[in-house]
Amino acid sequence: QKSIAVLTSGGDAPGMNAAVRAVVRAGINKGMKVYGVYRGYNGLLNGDVEEMNLRSVSDIIGNGGTMLYTARSEEYATPAGIQRAADFCRSIGVSGVVVIGGDGSFRGARCLTNAGINCIGVPGTIDNDIACSEYTVGFDTAMNTAIQMVDRIRDTAQSHDRCSVVEVMGRRCGDIALQTGIATGATAILVPEVQYNIERDVIARIINTQKTGKKHFIVVVAEGVGGVRDLAKYVEQRLGIEARATVLGHVQRGGSPTLRDRVVASQMGFKAVELLEQNIGNRVVAMQGGKIIDLDINEALDMPRVFDEELYKIAMTISI
Ligand code: F6P
Repeated sequence: QKSIAVLTSGGDAPGMNAAVRAVVRAGINKGMKVYGVYRGYNGLLNGDVEEMNLRSVSDIIGNGGTMLYTARSEEYATPAGIQRAADFCRSIGVSGVVVIGGDGSFRGARCLTNAGINCIGVPGTIDNDIACSEYTVGFDTAMNTAIQMVDRIRDTAQSHDRCSVVEVMGRRCGDIALQTGIATGATAILVPEVQYNIERDVIARIINTQKTGKKHFIVVVAEGVGGVRDLAKYVEQRLGIEARATVLGHVQRGGSPTLRDRVVASQMGFKAVELLEQNIGNRVVAMQGGKIIDLDINEALDMPRVFDEELYKIAMTISI
């Protein structure tokens, strides 16, 4: 009987549970033994695993977080750690592992595959920063949370004729900021991918909309740009309007996954098991052209991320 394992690694994302559920159910359905690994790669170092059955993953599809817990494993990232993890897999007969996480987790998966255990990466991160995939599990839920929060901030900004500067998550990737910004009608959006100038890209945009009668303003800033408190102060001093800063933070990482996250997670988890069934490893499951595909993990990790300049242009053109 083939045995596989599933783990979640890196920052959690809503929909990870749906992916775990899909892996467990698809694996059992194909006659495999499926282990859940706790706290990311740490579980492989500490032997913290449990055999799953069909009911182990009942009632989790709608839950945020990850039932398997997660971690950013530093010990694992050494040659000795990888060897120990691979040896542990062999000791319990596990020949393949589904790794649900971001690109750091995929690098770990590549190392483990090189040590003899087939690994398949499933993109699970709210950031949408996996270059090879149009979509990562968690992105939709995070943005829906973010737009709800910004809508509330807008209510109070409007009542007080203020400017609200809001930081959303995304250290290296501005996708959450861009899509949240366009969906909430932000006057300015600052992302790490686009070189910005405060005078031109924030102050002048506010002044232009003031001229047409607008009195409250939302500025959405990606975490990777940061500095929302200083920016709010600058807007106050420079334009003489009250400004407030809000960092949305980890509220964006929690909550019940949206339909999109549940469905994509289910499709991707299923695809990962299909690959392991055929003894294929070192692949990443991805969405391209709306379809679930798989590609080589090295190719996936080497791909440069492409920022959606077109959507950015649209946002800049219509938020006036
Ligand atoms: O990768 C997801 C993410 O939420 C990023 O947007 C953010 O920069 C980071 O994780 C925060 O990490 P931590 O969980 O360590 O606070």
